[in-house]
Amino acid sequence: MASLITRKLDEAVKARLRVRAAQRGHSLEEEARRILTEAVADEADTASGVTLPEDVAGESTGTSIAPTLKARRVLLVIGGGIAAYKSLDLIRRLKERGAAVRVVMTEAAQQFVTPLAAGALAGQRPFTDLFSHADEFDIGHIRLARETDLIVIAPATADLMAKVAHGLAPDLAGAVLLATDKPVLMAPAMNPHMWAHAATRRNIETLRGDGVAFVGPNSGEMAERGETGRGRMAEPLEIVAAVEALLAPLRPLPLQGRRVLITSGPTHEPIDPVRYIANRSSGKQGHAIAAAAAAAGAEVTLVSGPVTVADPPGVNVVKVESAREMLAAVQSALPADVAVFAAAVADWGVEPQQQKIKKEKGGAPPQFALRENPDILSTIAHMTRGRPRLVVGFAAETNDVIANAKAKLARKGCDWIVANDVSHEGGVMGGDRNTVHLITAAGVDSWPTQSKQGVAAHLVARIASALEAKR
Ligand SMILES: Cc1cc2nc3c(=O)[nH]c(=O)nc-3n(C[C@H](O)[C@H](O)[C@H](O)COP(=O)(O)O)c2cc1C
Repeated sequence: MASLITRKLDEAVKARLRVRAAQRGHSLEEEARRILTEAVADEADTASGVTLPEDVAGESTGTSIAPTLKARRVLLVIGGGIAAYKSLDLIRRLKERGAAVRVVMTEAAQQFVTPLAAGALAGQRPFTDLFSHADEFDIGHIRLARETDLIVIAPATADLMAKVAHGLAPDLAGAVLLATDKPVLMAPAMNPHMWAHAATRRNIETLRGDGVAFVGPNSGEMAERGETGRGRMAEPLEIVAAVEALLAPLRPLPLQGRRVLITSGPTHEPIDPVRYIANRSSGKQGHAIAAAAAAAGAEVTLVSGPVTVADPPGVNVVKVESAREMLAAVQSALPADVAVFAAAVADWGVEPQQQKIKKEKGGAPPQFALRENPDILSTIAHMTRGRPRLVVGFAAETNDVIANAKAKLARKGCDWIVANDVSHEGGVMGGDRNTVHLITAAGVDSWPTQSKQGVAAHLVARIASALEAKR
């Protein structure tokens, strides 16, 4: 509400409000909220002697915050300015609205705030070094640049702005900003003379021309004693409002209000306390579908077998080991509008031994009688009550892919099968790309080879239009 009001304020009033907010260390919206709260509280007190509950009058004690950034990914680049401390609060504000926040810190930024503090607030380690072997193998600057919905630079120092304007990439922040194809929002913070300098003005023009969005800086007192003017970094809540505006969906998200259940990864079937039967599934495809469904506005539960891929943002993840545990987790996650069974569930397991099976010298190897595991896809697809409206199975085939998948569709009683050929050496299982055929009652739709994220986006779009048609 406050942002609507401040947006409509007369410029002169807004300027005075900004100074007042800066003097009290608040954002514009926060200051407006406080003024309004006090005014309403005063009125209520005089009119009826009623006192407002503490959480209305106070500093957001227990006020529930709308998840306006649910499942959105923000990469926050912290530059080397005194305002870096406010970026720690910004991380918290973004996260409490549901965003997943990754942090890149420049070397200078680490002089002002520690990676430990930023990491603790973000819930994951910040990235600091372009030439780190571990980081480059783990994520790498190109993935950092792309696996996000928005890059926020806060504080954007004069130096960082100059580097970006000139396409320089001497460090991780520069390389990420040059490699990205995502929108960039800068929150400049610097001394008013630096802000007014002709070089900075030129850089701002260049950056605007390159499509960079800006929030702030505000006018007010500087950290340096006695300095006032324009250069204060926008308050965290102002930056959050700019992020929300940039990421706001133009129309309702296609799976808004839908519950989607997804399984992913392999299962581990225990043999004894230390051994298990497994398969090569990495969980990349199932996790990508969960991420795409969440980004499409769905409430997603992901039942995942043991994987090393990260949990997708904005998704409720239930971790299981065996096929039996996966079935139980799936059943307790119902009801759902859609269920996508992308996990590679082991068809068979063995009766596990309570103690480690010993290798006896000269003895015969142990014999195992395989027992059939529950068929999760078939169980859910054949539910007579509470069956999800759309049940999608996956078929990993090594031969006669389409014929086998069609047979599976009929046998399992599901609505769609996503079939893929897993016969290639070093191919689909564990890889980043996938070639799939979508088999429905209407026929076979073969999609071109693409990234697993691409397959996920296509599938989610098909799910959304099928649900819309069923409506
Ligand atoms: C105490 C102190 C405060 C500083 N504050 C700012 C600032 O607010 N904005 C800015 O542009 N530079 C500021 N600087 C200068 C930057 O730290 C310096 O230009 C640095 O190279 C910027 O690194 P970056 O590109 O990683 O942000 C400050 C330097 C010091 C020593």
